[in-house]
Amino acid sequence: MERTFVMLKPGVLQRRIVGTVLSRFERKGLRLLALKLMRMDKALIEAHYAEHRGRDFYEKLVDYTLSGPVIAMILEGEAAVSRVRRLIGPTDINESAPGTIRGDFAYSTRLNIVHASDSAESASRETALFFKPEELYEWEDGNGRWF
Ligand SMILES: Nc1ncnc2c1ncn2[C@@H]1O[C@H](COP(=O)(O)OP(=O)(O)O)[C@@H](O)[C@H]1O
Ligand SMILES: [Mg+2]
Repeated sequence: MERTFVMLKPGVLQRRIVGTVLSRFERKGLRLLALKLMRMDKALIEAHYAEHRGRDFYEKLVDYTLSGPVIAMILEGEAAVSRVRRLIGPTDINESAPGTIRGDFAYSTRLNIVHASDSAESASRETALFFKPEELYEWEDGNGRWF
């Protein structure tokens, strides 16, 4: 089992599509281990997006992320990192196909509504930035399978 970190960007809350987006992950069969509504401060945003510092879109990305609360979560499942990346679709909105979260709900690459870790290493790093270990809740399905 693998874990990944997902963050619904401010537009998801503003557009009242939190439940809709969350349900994409649930219906795929991913297991929700942690979930919180929070406002990211500048220091957390800078740490989270450190690899992009200096890029032309960086300042606007920081401003957008500061513009309202986000929803942070940890999802668990087999190959969760790559499967969640496929569910959300590519960064570039021109490439994200209908059926993916970005393909269905986003109209701008910068405002592409959702973040998901791009590797197991990023998932560990990002999880530690957003969650304390005791904020993750492990659980099993009643019959040992997810359906
Ligand atoms: N060319 C771009 N123009 C505008 N915004 C961008 C661009 N590239 C990336 N971004 C923004 O920065 C975020 C982080 O970029 P990146 O890590 O490359 O993508 P991803 O979120 O798919 O992992 C993207 O989700 C998007 O909001
Ligand atoms: Mg990224």
